[in-house]
Amino acid sequence: MKATVVNIVGGALLLAHGIAASGVDTTSFGSPSPPSKPHGKWVSKKWQGTNYACKCFPGDSCWPSTRDWQTFNNTVGGTLHVNTPPAAACYNTFTGPLGNINAYNAAQCANITTNFPDEQFQIDLPTAGLWSYFTNDTCRPTTNPSGSCTLGYYPVLYITAKTVGHIQAGINFARDNNLRLVVRNTGHDFLGRSVGWGALVINTHSFQDISLSNTWEGAGAYSGPTITVGAGVQAINALKRLHSVNPPRIMVTGECATVGIAGGLPQGGGHGPWTNREGFLADTALEFKVVTADGELRTANEKTNSDLFWALRGGGPASFAVIVSATYKTFDDLASTGINLEINPSHTTNSTLLWEAITIFHGYSTHFVDNGLYVYYEVLGPLLRVHPIVGIGKTTAQLQAIVKPLFDDLNALGVRYDTNTKTYTTFYDLYLDLFEPETAGQSALTGGWTIAKQDALSNHTAIIEAFKTIIASGGIMVGHMWNAGHGLPQKEWSKSAINPRFRNVVDKLITVLPVSGSASLAEKAASQKTLTYVMDEALRTASPNGAAYVNEADPFQPNWQTAFWGTNYPALLKARQKWDPNGVFYAVSTPGTEAWEQIEYGTRLCKKL
Ligand SMILES: Cc1cc2nc3c(=O)[nH]c(=O)nc-3n(C[C@H](O)[C@H](O)[C@H](O)COP(=O)(O)OP(=O)(O)OC[C@H]3O[C@@H](n4cnc5c(N)ncnc54)[C@H](O)[C@@H]3O)c2cc1C
Ligand SMILES: *[C@@H]1O[C@H](CO)[C@@H](O)[C@H](O)[C@H]1NC(C)=O
Ligand SMILES: *[C@@H]1O[C@H](CO)[C@@H](O)[C@H](O)[C@H]1NC(C)=O
Ligand SMILES: *[C@@H]1O[C@H](CO)[C@@H](O)[C@H](O)[C@H]1NC(C)=O
Ligand SMILES: *[C@@H]1O[C@H](CO)[C@@H](O)[C@H](O)[C@H]1NC(C)=O
Ligand SMILES: *[C@@H]1O[C@H](CO)[C@@H](O)[C@H](O)[C@H]1NC(C)=O
Repeated sequence: MKATVVNIVGGALLLAHGIAASGVDTTSFGSPSPPSKPHGKWVSKKWQGTNYACKCFPGDSCWPSTRDWQTFNNTVGGTLHVNTPPAAACYNTFTGPLGNINAYNAAQCANITTNFPDEQFQIDLPTAGLWSYFTNDTCRPTTNPSGSCTLGYYPVLYITAKTVGHIQAGINFARDNNLRLVVRNTGHDFLGRSVGWGALVINTHSFQDISLSNTWEGAGAYSGPTITVGAGVQAINALKRLHSVNPPRIMVTGECATVGIAGGLPQGGGHGPWTNREGFLADTALEFKVVTADGELRTANEKTNSDLFWALRGGGPASFAVIVSATYKTFDDLASTGINLEINPSHTTNSTLLWEAITIFHGYSTHFVDNGLYVYYEVLGPLLRVHPIVGIGKTTAQLQAIVKPLFDDLNALGVRYDTNTKTYTTFYDLYLDLFEPETAGQSALTGGWTIAKQDALSNHTAIIEAFKTIIASGGIMVGHMWNAGHGLPQKEWSKSAINPRFRNVVDKLITVLPVSGSASLAEKAASQKTLTYVMDEALRTASPNGAAYVNEADPFQPNWQTAFWGTNYPALLKARQKWDPNGVFYAVSTPGTEAWEQIEYGTRLCKKL
């Protein structure tokens, strides 16, 4: 299907919309034009009484001509493609901004239908968003080929960049033509930051190089072992590689094995089972190779472009540069123990009892993080699933001693539960065995809040009431108990742009509110209101000293500047104004995007005048 579509579009459909654009500098590759050059390619719009200057989209007179696209395609080695939604093969007609395409293919439809929930399958597709809500869900797999399939918020065109030159050319072309640019690695972003209506995508997932070194001779005081990963590398591949050396090594990654570790993860921070010991992934960064908005390849570390380096460490995804590769510290892997705990309807259907058990469990959050544990858990309507409690470097006896008060209290309450304990020769073995794969293709809004230690200690009853509010609103909670200030020495904290409040927390919560893929705009607005002003508001009120995590958040988080970055925000704004003054990059709720809005129901990206 893909080849036919691309040929048709390359030949005819782009032509239908191509209007010759003058002054496109496709030769600027390698010698970029100054970023602040006003090129006048803006589209004026008025929306709900406000005037906007908008980027160029298909159908606009400033959208590049077919010839410009072809020249660009040559510059990027033929890696430019017209995008179709993954499930287009299930429909007779796919209606895109570039025309109608007959995309039906029974075998491919069967393939996508079976694999739609498979994370790795979606990651390997060039533009898919794993959490489908922000694709607008306008083309889901179906058995009804006469249904409607439109592009929704999936991007219009993409390049599968294979070289730094392709990334540079993509940035230059988007900048010079004032196109909406989206950077996409694995598509994990909960907030829709790796998709975008009307956008050109630079897909960085082909950058799969991994190299290890025993010593670091670059900038900074550190001189130990390192790992350097290309922009496309996923956690599991880096961990596998580190495990293969003798003795095995490890790095900070998320709990999720499929997340990319050089794309969005470090730019948001990147928390995982090792965060209690070593901080965020961003705290372990030594150097990034990046392409900035002016198209220049640059190095960022403690000495060179140190303000950029700081901003890339937790200052917000896709805001300052496109990361090409990242170098991180690595650590000795350690024997580790894990404990699972579950209370589900087979144990009790008494919700009063269940909430008493949840209250007891959560009351130990400070005790857990103070003792160096990491805990991943879920609360759904009728159950508590703690899967797992992790003790890195801890024996069975050591971990059991730490969690004993919890089990004593549960036993005294008289609630039944399942539990099991297992010790592994390395954390890596524990990780493979106890952490579970997640599914793609779910339509839901996500939000969240992180509970401050002082609030957990002083306002715990209110925190549990907030949890009840979330469940009563139809939501789900995913908790991650860690404190990014527990193991990392205080003198290291300010080297990352992460909200300083994360150095004194006990539980980073994700809230999830499922929304049907076919919900109307009014239903979506109502759900958004519930997430922002009922569910998350309850957490914010109960833990006023908490913070929000930019990678697992509500895109409409109120006061996002303070919630995501606290006292670091002014310096991040300054860095954004320096490195991307004209908004070549855009991701929702990131530094310096205050004037930007997706008007016309989340579509056209524009700057408020
Ligand atoms: C199932 C699941 C589990 C998760 N678990 C964790 C966890 O344990 N810990 C945690 O911290 N987070 C977790 N996350 C959130 C995750 O950190 C973010 O979604 C992260 O941004 C993903 O980065 P990515 O590059 O893999 O994904 P993408 O969706 O491809 O990109 C995410 C963002 O980064 C930008 N980006 C990607 N590549 C680049 C690049 N090379 N240069 C510049 N910008 C780039 C994109 O434009 C986008 O804004 C999880 C998410 C999911 C869906
Ligand atoms: C880009 O070039 C390649 C290789 O020639 C071709 O297969 C592809 O269809 C072109 N893309 C577009 C959008 O025309
Ligand atoms: C299913 O689709 C994927 C990705 O497009 C492809 O790599 C794979 O070969 C397909 N499998 C089958 C059985 O067609
Ligand atoms: C997005 O979905 C809504 C329905 O929830 C629909 O009204 C709107 O037209 C869709 N927009 C696009 C661009 O797909
Ligand atoms: C449910 O549990 C609560 C708290 O333990 C208890 O007081 C109550 O009697 C239980 N209800 C039933 C129907 O068993
Ligand atoms: C405790 O939580 C309640 C309810 O959310 C809130 O009103 C109150 O301000 C909180 N107290 C403190 C000291 O933060």
